[in-house]
Amino acid sequence: RAGLKYFGSATDSPGQRERAGLEHVYPQYDAILANPDEFGQTTPTNGQKWLFSEPEQGVFNWTEGEIVSSLAREQNKILRCHALVWHSQLAPWVEAQEWTAEELTEIITAHVTNVASHWKGRCYAWDVVNEALEEDGSWRQSLFYRVLGEDYIKLAFRLAAEADPEAKLYYNDYNIERPGAKVDAVLRLVTMLQDEGIKIDGVGMQAHFTAGEAPSLDQQIDVIQSYEALGVEVALTELDVRLDKLPPTEELLALQKEDYKNSVGACAQVPACIGITLWDFYDPFSWVPYTFEGEGAALLWFEDFSHHPAYAGVVAAL
Ligand code: XIL
Repeated sequence: RAGLKYFGSATDSPGQRERAGLEHVYPQYDAILANPDEFGQTTPTNGQKWLFSEPEQGVFNWTEGEIVSSLAREQNKILRCHALVWHSQLAPWVEAQEWTAEELTEIITAHVTNVASHWKGRCYAWDVVNEALEEDGSWRQSLFYRVLGEDYIKLAFRLAAEADPEAKLYYNDYNIERPGAKVDAVLRLVTMLQDEGIKIDGVGMQAHFTAGEAPSLDQQIDVIQSYEALGVEVALTELDVRLDKLPPTEELLALQKEDYKNSVGACAQVPACIGITLWDFYDPFSWVPYTFEGEGAALLWFEDFSHHPAYAGVVAAL
């Protein structure tokens, strides 16, 4: 509760959620998403990514990204925007050839400038760079890093600040919710930008967990405070807690409840943590079963729209 500005849920644009094959549930799903008592914020899970926003070089397409961002506007929800520079879900043309440093600099400049300018003034925050780090804290050898080194990160933040001065600029990553090498690397990344006078406002902890394995309340409080000590804010940007075995058992759902409670509780207790976003709220629309075989039931609403026990855990922690 300390510094919390919102509790929200990401949602896919219809073109993406169709893969669940559940068109008949859309009205019920949409009503829950629209309910201001449930969610005051949203993020498009896919529509603003490079693959959709610049599918051909210099050809920008706002259709997918606008679906969720216009919904946010209609429903008066805070909008988090996701993600400007990421090695994954890149448009194929970016990966199709080896670029020189000069060419890639131009490509990033055109992309970040056009995309951030299109949504100028509408995003509470942008995930400017997503997942630039490996588990051991070294830089991920993405195509951006291979050609430009860490300069691509500085470039992306500089460009985003110019294009949308009002937006909070975030570095976003996963497995940075418990103390360790990757968290230390995030702290170095933030410091690197600050030392050069480049604007960075926040760290996004994706918070994709497996039930029974999530970091403890104290570990998460520690980590949030270590980001806070650098003067940046923090958000849980993609929270979900998947079960590694299906169907759900009472025991697994109890572990999941504990994990949700700890994560939401840690954010609610540290003033620097300003918001929490579920990576969708309805199990059938979760990315988990498509990405982690045999896993799922990661969110707060089951397929029949009943609540997971974790729903009460979240309410208790807020
Ligand atoms: C996921 C989407 O939810 C899926 O629909 C898509 O197929 C793959 O990407 N980290 C991120 C998110 O930053 O953008 C990812 O979203 C999940 C992991």
